[in-house]
Amino acid sequence: MNWLSRLLGRKRPAQPLTADLLREIRLSFETSAADEEHFPSTIDPRIVHVKLILETMGDLNGRRVIDVGCGKGRFARILHERNPGARIVALDLAEAMLRAVPAGISPVAGSMTALPFPDGCFDGAYATESLEHAVDIELAVGEICRVVKPGGPVIIIDKNAAHWGRLQTPAWERWFGRKELERLLRRHCRKVRSQYISYWEDVEPDGLFLAWIARR
Ligand SMILES: C[S@@+](CC[C@H](N)C(=O)[O-])C[C@H]1O[C@@H](n2cnc3c(N)ncnc32)[C@H](O)[C@@H]1O
Repeated sequence: MNWLSRLLGRKRPAQPLTADLLREIRLSFETSAADEEHFPSTIDPRIVHVKLILETMGDLNGRRVIDVGCGKGRFARILHERNPGARIVALDLAEAMLRAVPAGISPVAGSMTALPFPDGCFDGAYATESLEHAVDIELAVGEICRVVKPGGPVIIIDKNAAHWGRLQTPAWERWFGRKELERLLRRHCRKVRSQYISYWEDVEPDGLFLAWIARR
């Protein structure tokens, strides 16, 4: 992808999250659920994304945590295995994705832009490669933070807007800049930081993936 299309991509105008657009996104992921190659139900527990979430969440036994835009629950599956006493809610827009969520985890259908939970009812929240589909990023970040207790961890792993154009994306997808998402998180969280990550600890991050880690 050349510099012009990257620039155009990053300047893609924000579109409003209408009911029609939300339905289009949902239907797209309902269909994608059958594609196990691109939307797998498991993940290698050794990858940095998993380690970072486990590390940031800490001991979850007896605690309540939400996986926002969980897909088939591949991250929630590992959290549940490592913390059998944790109460894990896996929320996704697409019910077909939720059907793959393993037993012992509570699947909930809904949108991260209107989470069906009261304020501060979770000890922590994480979202991996899902916020980029929220369209109304500000609203979704506000919602994710709203449902976490003061002091609780919020971790978002997504792609970096500076690398826009490296992968094919649906029309609604948006990636964020490092500082852009830090600023949004600071509206709701006391401590916010971010770091580049790669899949493997011994591989230097190439800038595509970022992890934003905050404390409510
Ligand atoms: C690329 S998948 C990532 C799934 C999962 N987090 C993972 O890493 O395996 C993106 C997921 O976000 C979900 N999603 C998209 N928009 C959403 C929304 N507004 N609210 C909740 N989930 C949404 C999709 O249905 C899809 O399962």
